[in-house]
This record gives sequence, structure tokens and C-alpha cells, in this order.
Amino acid sequence: MADPADPGHSCHCSGRADHVATPGQARRHLLSVSDLGRQGIEELLSISDAFVEVQQRAIPKVPALRGKTVATLFAEDSTRTRLSFETAARRLSADVLTYGISGSSASKGESLRDTLETLAAMGVDAFVIRHPSAGVPLQASRWVDASIVNAGDGAHEHPTQALLDCATLRQVLAERAGESTAEHGVAGFEGLRVTIVGDVRHSRVARSLVMALHALGARVTLVAPSSLLPVSLDSWPVTASHDLDEALPSSDVCYVLRLQAERGSSARVPSKAEYVARYGLSARRVARMGPDGLVMHPGPMVRGLEISSEVAAMDRCLVRRQVANGVTTRMAVLFWLLASGPSPSTVASHASALLAGDLDSFTPRDLEAASVERADAGGTGDEVMEPVGG
Ligand code: NCD
Repeated sequence: MADPADPGHSCHCSGRADHVATPGQARRHLLSVSDLGRQGIEELLSISDAFVEVQQRAIPKVPALRGKTVATLFAEDSTRTRLSFETAARRLSADVLTYGISGSSASKGESLRDTLETLAAMGVDAFVIRHPSAGVPLQASRWVDASIVNAGDGAHEHPTQALLDCATLRQVLAERAGESTAEHGVAGFEGLRVTIVGDVRHSRVARSLVMALHALGARVTLVAPSSLLPVSLDSWPVTASHDLDEALPSSDVCYVLRLQAERGSSARVPSKAEYVARYGLSARRVARMGPDGLVMHPGPMVRGLEISSEVAAMDRCLVRRQVANGVTTRMAVLFWLLASGPSPSTVASHASALLAGDLDSFTPRDLEAASVERADAGGTGDEVMEPVGG
């Protein structure tokens, strides 16, 4: 049996062969960015474009997942991830079941497996799972016949955060190039210099984001004290530094991570004051990036610690856009998983129909009828890294 505490296990087992549906397979999952590869990431980004248009409508709702049921099962606190998944599901006209550990039978001793099987028996098509233990979404995919989305498992992965971050960056890069996102594609990522600063060691966001950015051609630098970097970076396609001031002048983007106090990070820094002095993103530090430098943060932000209020309020700080793109990206993911199991290329080919305005009449059955051959969305396989423990 898999060891849910071993993030590496999930990575080895979450390759496309296991977890991405092939023709005839009913279910597809999103457990890791490595399930997608470059092509899968590009496809999801282009599907999410269709939903950006829906989001701007007076009534931002389409019937694409009518008759489907999405359950959110969060065993860890969350604001934006949970609400954006639920908003995404509702905007696609799916029914939504919300499960929280408190107020449920988990407090009476019910196991996670029994809980999942109970909800599955009610007719759930997709579970969106957040759990403090790495590997739980992978295990869930073996227990129930439903699509599983990893909404954050311990310090392992958070693939939809990486996707929404890439969608946000892509929008800004396309705007700067004077192009639509469709015209721009992912060209702007080639050679983009992204510095990720903070508690990388405990960050599932960093693991997924590094894989996604690397797959798209960006160059990533991790900045943190040694105590907040992973034990080994051997398999990470990054450079590492302990000096934020030195890294910023050659950064196009500074992506700030929260100190994960709930995973023990406070004990890994001498004091908060010292952390702020060396790694907190202040306006003075932002100025080192030059006028076009961008700031990102997955939220929740702890102002005055990893980021100053002044920086959080800057136009170049993309936090609000990240949240808005969280909804459209998660719409794309749910659509990709649940629209009757078509190949990604089928969905992508329909994304242009969606953009052309056919979305209102667009249902999963339309996708079933489509007979586009499944393309290999796996990429070459060497564009993703092996996560290390944490
Ligand atoms: C992140 C998470 O939960 O991993 N938040 C989020 O999903 N937007 C990052 C964090 O909690 O620091």
C-alpha cells in the first residue's frame, strides 16, 4: 500500500499511465502537475480562457456540467481554494456537496475511506480534496470511482494553484506583448526569471509551481534560509540562493510564500524580525526588480511578515488577479475532468467553440459525440521534477 506520508511515492505513481484517463477509462484525476506535462498545462490554460469570458458576463453561469456533482472535502483550513472550487462548480451548473471535518462523522471516528465511500454512494462525480497528509488524494483515487482533484496535500503538491498562477502570468505577459492570451500562448514563459522566496521546504505551492514553470521554459530561483529549503534540491530544476537582495535585480517575478507555521516553520527561523529583515518583501526590495517586476503570492498573506502592506497594494502585485483566475482555472479543471471523459484535445478543440459563443448550448453530451483522437498530452516526461520529501 502507498505510504501517504511519502510525497515521492505519490509522484512515482501519479504518472499519466495511472491517472489520466485513456479512451475507455471513465475517470481522470488531477493529482500532480506531472500528470499534465507541458501540453496538458497549455490545454488547461486555453480552456480557462473560455471561462474568463463567461466570468465577465452579467450571469456568469453555463450548463456545461449540469447533472454532475462535485464534492469538496477539506481536512485543512482554506478560504480561496475551497470557495473558488465551489464557485467554479456552480458556475458550470454542477451540484456541490461541501464536507468539512468539523460537524461531520469524522468527529465520531469515521475513517477517511468510509467517508469518501459514503459520499461516493450519494453519486459524486468529482472529489476536491485537501488534506494535511501528502498522498491522500492519490489514495482516494484508488478507493472511489470518481475523479479526484488534489487541492493541496500536506507539503506535497497543489496543482491548481500552479495552474492559476501560470494563467495569471500568461495574461500579464500577453498584455505586455499587445496580444490576446490565445495569440501569445506560452511564449512569454521562455527564459522568464522567477524567484520564489520563503518557506519552500513546507510549500506544496512551490513544488507544483516549479514543475509547471519549468515545463513552460521559465528559470526558477529559490530564495530562503537553508532551514526553509528542502533537504535536497538535487532533482529540482532550480538554482538556490540565501540572498533575496542579490536575486531580485535579475528577477522578472518575485513569488512570495507564507511561513507555514502550522508545519513547524517558526522553529526554523531565529526570529520573525530577522526573517522580515532578510526575506520580507518590502517596497525597497521591490524597487530592486526594476519597473516591470511582478509580485505574486498564493494567499493567505501575512502582512508585515513575508510581504509588506505597501507591496500588497502595488499595481504590480497580482494577488487579486490570481484569485480571480482561481475560479476560471478551476472551472477549466472541472470541465476537463467531468465533461464525459473526452481527450484533452477534444476539450481543447471545443474551447474555441466556447470562445466563439456556443457555450450556452454546450453540454457534456456534445463532448461525448465528438470523435477527436486523443493526443498524447504527456510531454516528454523530463520536463518535470521529482518532488523531495518535506
Ligand atoms: C496555499 C496552500 O494552502 O497551500 N494557499 C492557497 O491554497 N492559496 C498557501 C498557503 O497556505 O500558504
